[in-house]
Amino acid sequence: MQTPSGYPESATEAFVLLQSKPRLDIDDLKVLAMIEQSGQDFYLALARAARSPETKALLEKNAHEELGHAHRALNAIRLLGGNFSLPKAGENPYSLPVMFDELDLNFLSELIRGEEGGDKSYQQWAENEPNADVAHLYRLNGGEEIGHGQRVAQVIALSQ
Ligand SMILES: [Fe+2]
Ligand SMILES: [Fe+2]
Repeated sequence: MQTPSGYPESATEAFVLLQSKPRLDIDDLKVLAMIEQSGQDFYLALARAARSPETKALLEKNAHEELGHAHRALNAIRLLGGNFSLPKAGENPYSLPVMFDELDLNFLSELIRGEEGGDKSYQQWAENEPNADVAHLYRLNGGEEIGHGQRVAQVIALSQ
């Protein structure tokens, strides 16, 4: 599957572009849905590098919720009058194959800041979204991004 035209090819750059937008339109939400779906693959890759069942479970929980965020983005698209389905496994242009040999604690600290930045973006999009149901979905995703950062902090604590 291809990204809508005009969007960067990397998930990081595409997310930076979305962050610069006060309100998301339907194409933005398609890109967001695929970035969130790629977040599932990312956390599953981290979970595979986890050494203990506790840290693995925390990272798998984040993976599961990232997929939920993608589904909320699909719901937002429908509420705004559009329609979109997530790419099949292995066909998401934003999901690059990643493998981690171990959990790097500095990298995990960065990840907490990334999750907090994700929440800020969701709150911004919610504030500028006239459709209250769509704004509600953004706030749910944002709140869970904070929870992801808290789980990653637990992973760091358990790994020390
Ligand atoms: Fe997310
Ligand atoms: Fe997240």
